[in-house]
Amino acid sequence: MKNYATIIRKSFILLMALSLSIAIISCTGPEGPAGKDGATGTAVCKVCHSDNTFMYAKMMQYDNSQHALGVNFQRNTNTCAPCHTSEGYRETAVTGADTTVATIQNPTTINCRTCHFIHTNFDTTDFNLTFTKTVNLRIGGQMTHDIGKGNLCAKCHQGRPTSPMPVLGGDSVSITSSHWGPHHSPVANMLNGNGAFEYTQGSYASPHLNVPDGCVTCHMATAIGNQAGGHTWRMSTGTTDNVAGCLTCHSGVKSFDINGTQSDVEASLVQLRNTLSTKGWIDTTSSGGEYNMDVVVATSSKPLKLSANQAGALYNYMMIAADRSMGVHNPNYIKTLLTGSINAVSQ
Ligand code: HEC
Ligand code: HEC
Ligand code: HEC
Ligand code: HEC
Ligand code: HEC
Ligand code: HEC
Repeated sequence: MKNYATIIRKSFILLMALSLSIAIISCTGPEGPAGKDGATGTAVCKVCHSDNTFMYAKMMQYDNSQHALGVNFQRNTNTCAPCHTSEGYRETAVTGADTTVATIQNPTTINCRTCHFIHTNFDTTDFNLTFTKTVNLRIGGQMTHDIGKGNLCAKCHQGRPTSPMPVLGGDSVSITSSHWGPHHSPVANMLNGNGAFEYTQGSYASPHLNVPDGCVTCHMATAIGNQAGGHTWRMSTGTTDNVAGCLTCHSGVKSFDINGTQSDVEASLVQLRNTLSTKGWIDTTSSGGEYNMDVVVATSSKPLKLSANQAGALYNYMMIAADRSMGVHNPNYIKTLLTGSINAVSQ
């Protein structure tokens, strides 16, 4: 019986091998007609790559943005990469760390893939945002509000801790760096109402912390060509303020200078700037008139020694200049800081 079974098995294998080779040989006949296109393939791509301009319009706007045009993505070391490179942002959005594990090689600028999951699922969920959590600020901890789609922006546009940081009523400080201050664009702190040197303790959250989706509502409002709004993130064309995002709350306004807030803030900022410059604490000559590019006159070999209250005024100047909204991000906080700072250096 056992032998018989083995013979059957062996002949079966032989038969299979034989019919396989016949099948292969007979394959050399002429090709049949082409089948229909599959459901996947190009159809998947057409969700985005088609003859409509849904995506192209955003690309045009993006091309004219500072995110696209800026050259600072060369800042790719582990402390700078989370905000200055696309790869560093995506890495730290997942890890939650303030630094990347290593320097980013072949860094890319902020692009579609920084904020969206391009070519991941190959459907519209690819336009979901890469970071959506309430931001844990580097200065001051968790933001008091979830600002929706604006969380994405707040993760980068926030201050960095500086050293030494003066404390109200505390010791004098010795500043050793020309870039002392909270770094560029501490906007999330301004909205939150924290991170500056406060001469009077208080609760300073901005009324604009309640704007649904925060930054996105004002900076990505209906676009004016590729000059402002949408994926340009620009507020103004240079001559026209894009007030589209303001109108739901400030009906009928034509400019950002509502009730003269921006004019008043700029006048006070210039007054403070002139005082700090006259004292020789800041260099205003190399910045080409851009307040946010002024630097502190201090080095490790020639430190700048100031009382806590004086250093607070200098810090606030750097912060308000770097915020660049001339009061809009947090009108009352910014005005209060300027008044306190001007008093502190005028004594
Ligand atoms: C959900 C939208 C979406 C789908 C679906 C999609 N793409 Fe794209 N694709 C994009 C975006 C956005 C860009 C621009 C990326 C950039 O400029 O950084 C792009 C760019 C490209 C590029 C230019 C090179 C590059 O990677 O930037 C190629 C090639 C491409 N896509 C091929 C495809 C193919 C093939 C498919 C289908 C298998 C497909 N795409 C499906 C959104 C999509
Ligand atoms: C990955 C970090 C990152 C994210 C996310 C990010 N930004 Fe930026 N943003 C930057 C950097 C860095 C620059 C400056 C680029 C340069 O000059 O090289 C910048 C520039 C800008 C500017 C232009 C400033 C100027 O010089 O005129 C605006 C406005 C702006 N961002 C708003 C936003 C808004 C609104 C969002 C959210 C939708 C956002 N950003 C998301 C890092 C980021
Ligand atoms: C928390 C995020 C963050 C980190 C970390 C960070 N930056 Fe920035 N930086 C920004 C943003 C946002 C801007 C754009 C501000 C604007 O245009 O108003 C910027 C702007 C700059 C600029 C351009 C100023 C100008 O307008 O030309 C330089 C230079 C710069 N950063 C250097 C660095 C260096 C060097 C490091 C690392 C030591 C670093 N940054 C770390 C967020 C960050
Ligand atoms: C700095 C972050 C950022 C970058 C860079 C960015 N986007 Fe966006 N994008 C957003 C945000 C935030 C929204 C939501 C805007 C809103 O709700 O008004 C959005 C919305 C979109 C939408 C609409 C999605 C929908 O469901 O309606 C498309 C399409 C899009 N982006 C394409 C792109 C393309 C293409 C690029 C690259 C050229 C790009 N984005 C780069 C932040 C970004
Ligand atoms: C209530 C509306 C509003 C909100 C919310 C808002 N901004 Fe602004 N932002 C403005 C206005 C107005 C200016 C000043 C524009 C001008 O004077 O030309 C400005 C200025 C800026 C600038 C300086 C460059 C420029 O375009 O003038 C940056 C960078 C910036 N905002 C980023 C942000 C980020 C990031 C957020 C969210 C964390 C945010 N803003 C939230 C209205 C807003
Ligand atoms: C979701 C509602 C909302 C949006 C959107 C909004 N604001 Fe406001 N804004 C407020 C509230 C609330 C106040 C505080 C009450 C007041 O002074 O009217 C305020 C106050 C201000 C102030 C101070 C005015 C004063 O009299 O002291 C300025 C300036 C301002 N907003 C500018 C803007 C600009 C510019 C935009 C658009 C880029 C904008 N706001 C968008 C709600 C909003």
